[in-house]
Amino acid sequence: MAVEAQRLAVLGAGNMGSALIHGLVQWGHVEPGCITAVDPRPSVRQSLDALGVATTDQAPAALPGHDVIILAVKPQVAPALLAELCDQVEPEQTVISVMAGVTTAAIEGYLSGSVPVVRAMPQTLVRLGAGATALCAGHHATADALALAVALFERVGSAVVVPESLMDAVTGLSGSGPAYLYTVIEALSDGGVRVGLPRDVALRLAAQTALGAARMVLESTDHPAVLRDQVTSPGGTTIAGVHKLEEKGLRDALISAVQAAAARAAELGRP
Ligand SMILES: NC(=O)c1ccc[n+]([C@@H]2O[C@H](COP(=O)([O-])OP(=O)(O)OC[C@H]3O[C@@H](n4cnc5c(N)ncnc54)[C@H](OP(=O)(O)O)[C@@H]3O)[C@@H](O)[C@H]2O)c1
Repeated sequence: MAVEAQRLAVLGAGNMGSALIHGLVQWGHVEPGCITAVDPRPSVRQSLDALGVATTDQAPAALPGHDVIILAVKPQVAPALLAELCDQVEPEQTVISVMAGVTTAAIEGYLSGSVPVVRAMPQTLVRLGAGATALCAGHHATADALALAVALFERVGSAVVVPESLMDAVTGLSGSGPAYLYTVIEALSDGGVRVGLPRDVALRLAAQTALGAARMVLESTDHPAVLRDQVTSPGGTTIAGVHKLEEKGLRDALISAVQAAAARAAELGRP
């Protein structure tokens, strides 16, 4: 089923929910009139009203007539919200949860019948149409329901399907990844300032370099090590810099960061 034909109810329009709504409208060719956003905050609703999205603070009233229900509230709010909605969600609707650490089984436990549940770990980069999202299917999710959820997130970036057992690993890598890369970009621009560049120039050069390198990795069939080798001349400047990165343990730091964040995601997901 085409994404355009779907009516979406987004429950929770904070950072993630509104990033997704803005991304779908701006980049995903989804008509704002096909979206209903539910959020208790009047300021959040006002900014989405201005986009042409229907808004309400009443979750149960928002569900009828919607094909896809996106759960984008904080995990601690989920039990009360799901208990309120449990009898309102129909098996013809697809529930997509972006809540970190909340399993499909936990969500299914609240819903009656065989409602398809898909879990997604997106990023707020979906607002720019540049998010990386991993998805997994719950027990009752049909191939069509999963395909619909994948298609929705592909409208605002790229999407991969993984087994649910890998969702903590995804959280450690791409879920927390934007923060790692903001740190890398900031540190690179500090390096630029250290060797005399104005801050704005250093930041622009660092960010565009990260963007271009990421595109090269995505668009090339070569391993990143091969790409690095192609820009590292013998006895040149780049190998001097790469040597320093190895000496200072950048690679080890990044691997450890992903491992620590994945472990923390597993810890938070435990009942
Ligand atoms: N932010 C990210 O980068 C990111 C990335 C991946 C996944 N996620 C997931 O996305 C979810 C939302 O995170 P967030 O960062 O967007 O949090 P957030 O900014 O706090 O947004 C949650 C929104 O839900 C509203 N809300 C509370 N109770 C509600 C209810 N019963 N019905 C409808 N809306 C309700 C909140 O209003 P009040 O503030 O008034 O309570 C708030 O506006 C979380 O589960 C998180 O794990 C976030």
